[in-house]
Amino acid sequence: MTSSSASPDAPAARRAREQGTPILSTRGVTMRFGGLTAVSGVDLDVYPGEIMGLIGPNGAGKTTFFNCLTGMYRPTSGEVRLDGVLLPPKPRQVVKAGMARTFQNIRLFNNMTALENVMVGRICRTSAGPITSILHGPKFRREERESRAHARELLAYVGLAGSEEHLARNLPYGHQRRLEIARALATGPKLLLLDEPTAGMNPQETRAAEQLILRIRDSGLAVLVIEHDMRFIFTLCDRVLCLVRGEPLVEGTPALVQGDPRVIEAYIGTPEPHAQGPGDER
Ligand SMILES: Nc1ncnc2c1ncn2[C@@H]1O[C@H](COP(=O)(O)OP(=O)(O)OP(=O)(O)O)[C@@H](O)[C@H]1O
Ligand SMILES: [Mg+2]
Repeated sequence: MTSSSASPDAPAARRAREQGTPILSTRGVTMRFGGLTAVSGVDLDVYPGEIMGLIGPNGAGKTTFFNCLTGMYRPTSGEVRLDGVLLPPKPRQVVKAGMARTFQNIRLFNNMTALENVMVGRICRTSAGPITSILHGPKFRREERESRAHARELLAYVGLAGSEEHLARNLPYGHQRRLEIARALATGPKLLLLDEPTAGMNPQETRAAEQLILRIRDSGLAVLVIEHDMRFIFTLCDRVLCLVRGEPLVEGTPALVQGDPRVIEAYIGTPEPHAQGPGDER
């Protein structure tokens, strides 16, 4: 652990920004479902070694934006580049290009062990084709050994050493979330997308998740994280983007976003001009 507390602006990220080399670059990303525009014209640059927070009220389009980035949705318009390369809206190719994610509602292979779940993430980096796999040839066996060792290391990295043989469905909730992160890391990403990584966690689990995310950031990866926990967002993130009704409202340092009255308004709304207070009841 190289960083035990939040850094207002990670030095590595600041350097990367000064050099102008975003790892993720989106331009005009828009997603319409019939008459509903869920995401509208989102331009976003994320740099290696930074944690970028994505906030916004329920239904603001945050998960839809993730789905557009990862190829789960084909955006109605706009483009997504990873390391300068235009990404096709195909989840497998996006993962192979170096973008991995976790889900708002945990998606694990429940009847597989923790170790097997992480090994699945590694498949996109192994070269054994179907024939080699069926025949269990030497190349397959070597890659399987390496993949197993790598998965063990990743489980230890996320704090799940000792849980290798546990079925995913039997792990405590906080561990399942960490297992999802380990599986995402197994794909060898340059950019990690986390959709509400601390949702449903108790305060202790939340602290542990924060430490893990800081460690991932400090290892040089870029992290784009959706969270509703404002303490998490404003103490961990290097920069924050607030979406409202699919549109970017404000982007900047946590201090800037936190102090923007439009952000507060977006979350709690403005009082109706003629609303009655409790004392006004007649
Ligand atoms: N596949 C879909 N078809 C139609 N509408 C959709 C689809 N996916 C999302 N939406 C709509 O798009 C809008 C944005 O939803 P989204 O899940 O992206 O919000 P969110 O910001 O992630 O919200 P939350 O904080 O509650 O997770 C919502 O109005 C939602 O109902
Ligand atoms: Mg969501």
